[in-house]
Amino acid sequence: MVRNVAGVMADLEPEDFYLLSGIEQGMRFSRWVNREKLPEYSGLTPEEVEYRLDRCMKRDLVVRKTIQYEGYQLEFEGYDALALRAFSERDTIRGVGASLGVGKESDVYEVQSYKPLALKFHREGYTNFRKVSRGRDYTADRHHVSWLYTARKAAEREYEALETLFPRVSVPRPVDHNRHAIVMDKLEGVELARTKLDSTQVVGVLDLVLREVATAYEEGFVHADMSEYNVAVSERGVTIFDWPQAVPTDHDNARELLERDVSNLVRYFRRKHPAEVSDSIDVPAVAAAVADSSFETVRAFSEG
Ligand SMILES: Nc1ncnc2c1ncn2[C@@H]1O[C@H](COP(=O)(O)OP(=O)(O)OP(=O)(O)O)[C@@H](O)[C@H]1O
Ligand SMILES: [Mg+2]
Repeated sequence: MVRNVAGVMADLEPEDFYLLSGIEQGMRFSRWVNREKLPEYSGLTPEEVEYRLDRCMKRDLVVRKTIQYEGYQLEFEGYDALALRAFSERDTIRGVGASLGVGKESDVYEVQSYKPLALKFHREGYTNFRKVSRGRDYTADRHHVSWLYTARKAAEREYEALETLFPRVSVPRPVDHNRHAIVMDKLEGVELARTKLDSTQVVGVLDLVLREVATAYEEGFVHADMSEYNVAVSERGVTIFDWPQAVPTDHDNARELLERDVSNLVRYFRRKHPAEVSDSIDVPAVAAAVADSSFETVRAFSEG
């Protein structure tokens, strides 16, 4: 998990953000931004750049590396700070609270707004970034695909899916988006993986999830990362979240990915509830019904 940057936000001054966004701009062109370019990118004088670099390095928002030149890069915390600043300037959020979850490629926090909301920072590219940027002498900019770009793209894809799907599909309501971060409604209930469904509910819940998958397909998206960890279950129903990998239904692999999503769900239910969910469910037939909007219940796809 990347450190929660909320604690340093109050210390930061407008000029610190000019510096951070100057480095952000420079990172579009090179992995390590030449210090000599920073006055131009940030609009600060060289003296101010020096002072702001010092402050931002002390707070671990920025990292330096001397190669053929003195170069700087944002840390994920520096990028987080820029996104938080944007959200607070447009009054989307007033403060950051406790962690709500840590994913393979994200950090999720509760945030204060007119009501509590969830803020998801995407971290795609992070592992790669650590390997590459801390590694021995990998400095060649011709291979430059910034982690900033990777994480921002993932957030954009997730936000786009949420905006398209909400409210017809039960997904977290999207509220705002900036850089690699999205703000959305907090999930109700708990992850499917942690539920204890009683036997009379099991098939009903599986059917509910598959109907959401079917509606998402009608709206043009396959989730493509469907699992018991990306579905929340509450008394009011099910919510499907974690959409950065969503694929448009006109994509070449869409049907294959849909079938994999359906198969993941059915397999999970079968394993956890062997008495209620039959072994004989015909997964490709379920996926076909989901795709052509005729799906109603898995009961129609098993023998006996
Ligand atoms: N809107 C939300 N409200 C409350 N908690 C959330 C919300 N979105 C995500 N979380 C929590 O954060 C965790 C990580 O979120 P999510 O699954 O979206 O990210 P991820 O990094 O893609 O996960 P994965 O490990 O599945 O790839 C979730 O398991 C969940 O517990
Ligand atoms: Mg997830």
